[in-house]
Amino acid sequence: MASVQGLELVEKDASGVDTQFRADILAGLSQSQKATPARWLYDDAGSQLFEDITQLPEYYPTRAETQILRGRGSEFAHMIGEGRAVIEFGSGSSVKTPLLLSAIAPAAYVPLDISGDFLRAAARDLAQKFPGLPVHPVEADFMRQVALPQAVAGLPKLGFFPGSTIGNMVARTAVDLLRNMRETLGEGAQLLIGMDLIKDTSVLIAAYDDAAGVTAQFNYNLVRRINRELGGDIPIEGLKHEARWNDEYARIEMHLVAQSDMAFTVDGRSYSMIAGETIHTENSHKFNRRTSNMLLLASGWEPQARWLDDRDRFSLILAEAKPNRSAP
Ligand code: AVJ
Repeated sequence: MASVQGLELVEKDASGVDTQFRADILAGLSQSQKATPARWLYDDAGSQLFEDITQLPEYYPTRAETQILRGRGSEFAHMIGEGRAVIEFGSGSSVKTPLLLSAIAPAAYVPLDISGDFLRAAARDLAQKFPGLPVHPVEADFMRQVALPQAVAGLPKLGFFPGSTIGNMVARTAVDLLRNMRETLGEGAQLLIGMDLIKDTSVLIAAYDDAAGVTAQFNYNLVRRINRELGGDIPIEGLKHEARWNDEYARIEMHLVAQSDMAFTVDGRSYSMIAGETIHTENSHKFNRRTSNMLLLASGWEPQARWLDDRDRFSLILAEAKPNRSAP
């Protein structure tokens, strides 16, 4: 069981089932609009499927963001400067993180992740690529405020949150997270955050419902996981992957649509769906300049710079934790 300073990050029951997973799924399936938190899509198989998604021709965000990181290094260096401690929220990608680190010559690198295994692998990888760079992995739930290692206490900080992971969260959860990041990093810190942009609906739908069906498998994997870990008998063949654009909330939603009336059990409880009813499994919010500015400002972050890829599909935003001020 993963633990830090006696704090258990993942609580499991006697049969080895993640108790939060069970509680979230059972509660989510009991709602009139069935809905499950997106984080449960990312078990080992789901994380691998997401890696496969990033290689798909239709899935532009990873390539677009990587292009910005590759091409704007000297501007990052100018705006961020040398000698910061880079705190990455999530265990880091073997491609994106080195691009940032080589651009800005940081004094230390602190990857934060709830999964100790991913974290240690990423930390080893980075330490190897940047000999001489102090790496201090921290096993923590970055949705909460985190105590950073003493070794970086005196250094100026840069938070790094790429991938538009913020888009997974509804606005109030995103604000909670961004405010916690501000508490974790402190006043004067900077944050470099990736946010995917609102664009033509057909381009967005294709990115989340690819021709090869990889995103569909990613969605079905949640059902496989529920059936396996919670002793469920949800008929996967009776559910169809769907990507929907919700214009009111500016987000892509992933759903599993019942193809006919069905009944099933999970963990001994009975559930039913009528044809056309859905399980809502993920949100991916999209932004424009004003909505991303508003989200950051509402969370205590002042936007300083914004970079787009060459086709204006994705944004990387640099923001600063400015002191509170009470006058307009
Ligand atoms: C990992 C949340 C950034 O929203 O684009 C990709 C997840 N889901 N395809 C995204 C995802 C389906 C991805 N994030």
